[in-house]
Amino acid sequence: MNIENQKQFIEKVKNINAGKNLKYTIFTMGCQLNENDSEKLCGMLEEMNYTKTDDISESDFIIFNTCCVRENAEDKLFGKLGEVKKIKEQKGTIIAICGCMMQEKHIVEKIKKSYPFVDILFGTHTMHKLPEDLYTVICNKNKIQDILDIDGEIIEGIPIKRNDNIKASVTIMNGCNNFCSYCIVPYVRGRERSRKAEDIIAEVKCLAKEGYKEITLLGQNVNSYMRVEREQNLATGEIDFFAKLLREVNKIDGIERIRFISPHPKDFTDDVIEAIRDCEKVCKIIHLPLQSGSTEILKRMNRKYTKEQYLALVEKMKARIPGIVLSTDIIVGFPGETEKNFEDTLDVVSKVHFEQVYMFIYSRRVGTPADKMENQVPDEVKHERFDRLKKLAESQIAGNNQKYVNTIQKVLVEGKSKTNENMLTGRTETNKVVNFEGTDDMIGKIVNLKIVSEHMWYLKGEVLNG
Ligand code: 5AD
Ligand code: SF4
Repeated sequence: MNIENQKQFIEKVKNINAGKNLKYTIFTMGCQLNENDSEKLCGMLEEMNYTKTDDISESDFIIFNTCCVRENAEDKLFGKLGEVKKIKEQKGTIIAICGCMMQEKHIVEKIKKSYPFVDILFGTHTMHKLPEDLYTVICNKNKIQDILDIDGEIIEGIPIKRNDNIKASVTIMNGCNNFCSYCIVPYVRGRERSRKAEDIIAEVKCLAKEGYKEITLLGQNVNSYMRVEREQNLATGEIDFFAKLLREVNKIDGIERIRFISPHPKDFTDDVIEAIRDCEKVCKIIHLPLQSGSTEILKRMNRKYTKEQYLALVEKMKARIPGIVLSTDIIVGFPGETEKNFEDTLDVVSKVHFEQVYMFIYSRRVGTPADKMENQVPDEVKHERFDRLKKLAESQIAGNNQKYVNTIQKVLVEGKSKTNENMLTGRTETNKVVNFEGTDDMIGKIVNLKIVSEHMWYLKGEVLNG
């Protein structure tokens, strides 16, 4: 489906707004999929004659694109809503909230009761209808709730205003069918649906033409790309597996780096390993969410692999893909996690030597099986384990950083360093930040740098002469 029927609303709002110099602010919470959705919301808003501002006090339209994977996002939203209420009172600003949190009934009820000034609520399956919802609010001044429980179709052709002009994200699938017991995503994003390969390829080709150098393919579970469609005999094109898609994107001239997040260890088939090995543009750092190193906890998380299977997969990847490194996600304090279970997590971390570890304290999510489990771990135990894991992960990251010193790295230069105007900053293939002295013409290019020193969260480099 495309957005043809929304185009008339874009035109209508655009005409109403003409000459008014209207501004909007967008707050995005959560993952890169949400960031990518926000780029589409911005694309639609800019076509309707709004320009972006970071100063909410001058905003005529404020939108929150929410996440509900962990609890702290809710606290953040409610805090911010108090602030925007005052702006609305002064300026008549239109307020909208969308995204994953809007698929949770108890949150929608709370907003309607405690924050009745919010004008538009829309969910993950109705994002493309922002123009229509906005038009209705502008014309009728009433509140809109546009939330669907059934999975929306994949919508093509939404205008997009990207945050960056060197790196871009491309969503390849929506939803998740895995139902990990702690995770709210399958309930708020619905079932897996994959975009047609031809649409993905066309988008990446377009990005290459515009000068983008790095593409990140996004999905809740990228290596089950087209799985549902294959099972239902709906995968009509030739590119019906993730490995094939990687190989196809690798052929696109102009794109120099390809990343993807996130794969699921249980679906990491040999064809994907071979494609990573063969495709020179696919970065040799793979994000492989572990979640827990304990087989017992993994079983109750419904992850469908054991500690040993995860470690065996890592070994296979390291053996078959020269130079491969890994990053991961880990949850500490899942219900019933014992000291012994936690030590299994530490054990896996010490064996794998991750390049980066994203650590999360388990957060209870209403409606998920883990929320109903007994033996919830007390907060102080969760925090104490989190600190121990952090210490171990950081000592390993520091050890890994050492290995970069005196090596030559290919660095994609992203721009000026935020902390020092005289320095440029970029990233290695393994996603390490490198700061160095260089010239502006290097921005957007891959340059060879010698790494001269390492610091916890960045490396320092020097341009090679000659
Ligand atoms: N509590 C804590 N972390 C969670 N994640 C997902 N659900 C929860 C939860 N309920 C983490 C997982 C996932 C990452 C995106 O967020 O580690 O990989
Ligand atoms: Fe959540 Fe598991 Fe799906 Fe990832 S794979 S989105 S953790 S249910």
